[in-house]
Amino acid sequence: MRSIQDSIQQQLDLNQSKNLLFEHIQQSMSVAPSFLAALEALLNSDSNQPPEEAHAQFAAFTANEMVKRIYAINPYLRINPADAAALEQIYRQTWQLMQQTRDIKTTLNEFHYPALSKWLTGLYPEEFQKSLRGSPSVGRVTYEEYSAEFQIELLGLDLASLQPPILDVGCGSQANLVRHLRSLGMEAYGMDREVQTSRPYIFQADWFDYRFEKDRWGTIVSNMGFSNHLNYAYRHDYSQLERYLLKMKEMLEALAVGGCFIYAPALPSVEEALPTQQYLVQREQKTQDLSVSRIFRAE
Ligand SMILES: C[S@@+](CC[C@H](N)C(=O)[O-])C[C@H]1O[C@@H](n2cnc3c(N)ncnc32)[C@H](O)[C@@H]1O
Repeated sequence: MRSIQDSIQQQLDLNQSKNLLFEHIQQSMSVAPSFLAALEALLNSDSNQPPEEAHAQFAAFTANEMVKRIYAINPYLRINPADAAALEQIYRQTWQLMQQTRDIKTTLNEFHYPALSKWLTGLYPEEFQKSLRGSPSVGRVTYEEYSAEFQIELLGLDLASLQPPILDVGCGSQANLVRHLRSLGMEAYGMDREVQTSRPYIFQADWFDYRFEKDRWGTIVSNMGFSNHLNYAYRHDYSQLERYLLKMKEMLEALAVGGCFIYAPALPSVEEALPTQQYLVQREQKTQDLSVSRIFRAE
């Protein structure tokens, strides 16, 4: 099992920078010799043939790895549970076809890559689909996690006046800010779709699936997280905008009266539409391209 997982990783590594939306995808993808050998061994040796359950596990493992890699290239895409299940199904069908035809390369070229390409196309906003067809490789979007000190400085957090409990939305897989605030004795929590540190105060969840309970939080923070993605929807993917705006409303209602949502980048057009008797907005320009906003819930 371990060696098959390793060869799957090697295969995914080999094609990591390839563009799955390239119109001649079959010509650009490569097959790692170790992966080919592992597949051939599985197909040809009945005694080594893993049972159906193991096939399903490989498919789940590969789909999960693919999701991580796609987010590493473009974190603004959103792969919901139904998309993830459809991806897993492609890996299952690929293996079944390989078993039926015993022809690995043809299965990859004629079924697998086109199926992956079609699946990924559905995740991209229309404006990008066309432009991505011409390029065999893809770059990566800059998207990082920051130290607690950097976030405190950028968001202008005055630790002595932060109202608990504090929730960091899109806290990063390391939850640097949350762990730092905890180390200072503050009641801080974090949520993120990718979490590496397992702590009871860090929740692994997609913000669209997470229920922001009304009147619950003294402070909500989100550095280059929620508002960054809302901005992306605003600029590039209008189909997602409404659900972002509804989530933002839910987050504001999750503030206790007197509580504050602090985030970067700022969202001027969203902030200007907020009811002024309910919310007070302060915006601060930090660099030429970046402002930080604070929204206080007044009533
Ligand atoms: C640029 S990173 C910033 C992380 C952290 N706030 C910091 O400043 O270090 C944005 C984070 O948002 C998370 N994220 C993106 N989409 C998300 C979603 N739909 N639900 C939950 N977290 C999400 C990512 O996993 C990532 O950790």
